[in-house]
Amino acid sequence: MLRTLGIETSCDESAVAVLDRDGAVEANLLSSQITVHAPYGGVVPELASREHLKALPYLVEHALEEALEPIEMVAVTVGPGLVGALLVGVRFAAAFAWGKGVPLVAVDHLEGHLVSPLLDLDGRPARPEPERMLALVASGGHSSWYAIESGNRRCLGRTRDDAAGESFDKVAQILGLGYPGGPAIDELARHGDPQAVPLPRPRLKNAPFDFSFSGLKSAAVRWVHDRDLRGAGFSSRRREVRDLAASFESAVVEQLLRPLDELAERHRPQAVAASGGVAANTLLRDRLTDWGARHGVEILLPVRALTTDNGVMIAHAGQLTHQSGRVDDPRRVDARGREVWQPPGMRKQADRLRSREMGED
Ligand code: KG4
Ligand code: ZN
Repeated sequence: MLRTLGIETSCDESAVAVLDRDGAVEANLLSSQITVHAPYGGVVPELASREHLKALPYLVEHALEEALEPIEMVAVTVGPGLVGALLVGVRFAAAFAWGKGVPLVAVDHLEGHLVSPLLDLDGRPARPEPERMLALVASGGHSSWYAIESGNRRCLGRTRDDAAGESFDKVAQILGLGYPGGPAIDELARHGDPQAVPLPRPRLKNAPFDFSFSGLKSAAVRWVHDRDLRGAGFSSRRREVRDLAASFESAVVEQLLRPLDELAERHRPQAVAASGGVAANTLLRDRLTDWGARHGVEILLPVRALTTDNGVMIAHAGQLTHQSGRVDDPRRVDARGREVWQPPGMRKQADRLRSREMGED
C-alpha cells in the first residue's frame, strides 16, 4: 500500500488523515461543524461547504506536518453526501494530487465506513479484512447490511425510509436535545426504562432483511407531543424523557439487529461488523458483543472516534482500492452526491442476488 492522505467532506465534518504503508495512523484531524449547524437542528448544506473551504487547507497543512514521510497518494470521498460539501474536498484533493504528482483515488463514503472496524488509533497497522463477514453500516444517511466475501460487497437489506441516525436526530430534535441527537439519546437512555413506552417495530412484507424507521419515529414524536414534552430536553431531567430515550433506542437497535440471526445462518460469517455513527451507540455495541459471545463469532466494532465520519477510513479505503489497481484522473474526478453505492456494473447483479436471498425468484 502507499502512504496516503485521506480527505472527507461529505457532510458536516472536515476530516483529514495520513496513514502509513501498513495502514497505521500517523495523523487524524477533524474540524467539526456541530456548533455551526446546531441552531438549525440539522446540517445546512451551504454552510457546510463554506466551513469545509475554511478548514481544509489548515487541516491538510497540519496533517502533513504530523506525517513521518512524504505522501505517496491522495484518497478523497466523492459520494454519497452533500454535493457542494463533497465538491470542496474533491477539488482540493485533485489539485493537491496533481500538484504533487501522486495518484488520486476516489472513495465511496460507505466503503470508508465498511473498512473502519479494521483500523485503530494506536499506531498499529490495519488488520486484513476477514474472508467472510456480515457488516452493518448505520449512520445519519444509511442503514444497510452487507455480505462481504473475499473482498466483494453485496447489499442484503437496507432501510426503506429513514436512516437509523436520522431517526435518532429527529426524536432528539423534538425533545430539544440538540444536534446530532444520537449521543444525547444514548446518554439519557442509560438512565431510562426501555420497556416504558410501547413503540411499533414494523416488519416489511416479502423483505425480511429490510427495515423501516419512519413509523417508529412518528410514534415517538406523537408520544412527545401528547405528553407536552416538546423541547423538554436535558434540563428538566424528567423521567418520561429518559424512558422515551431508552424505549426508542431499544426499538431502533432491535430493528437493526433483527435480520442478524437469519443472515448468520445463511452466510456463516467469520466475523460480524458494525460501522457508521450509530455504531457508537452503547446498546448496539453491547447487544452485538453479547451476540458474538453466544455464537462464537468475532465482533468487529470501530473505536468510537472512528464510528462517525473521519479521514482515516477514507485513506484506508483508498489504499485498498489502489492496491486492487484503480486510480482516478484528477482532471475528471467529480462529486457524486446522490449516487447509490454499488461497485461499477454490480447494481443489477446485486438486485438479482437480493431478490434471490428473499426468495422472490
Ligand atoms: O457516520 P456519521 O458521522 O455520518 C453519516 O455518514 O451520516 O453518522 C452520524 C449519525 C448521526 O445521525 C448521529 O446522531 C448518529 O450517527 N450517532 C449516534 C450515536 N453517535 C452518533 N446514534 C446513536 N447513538 C450514538 N451514540
Ligand atoms: Zn458517514
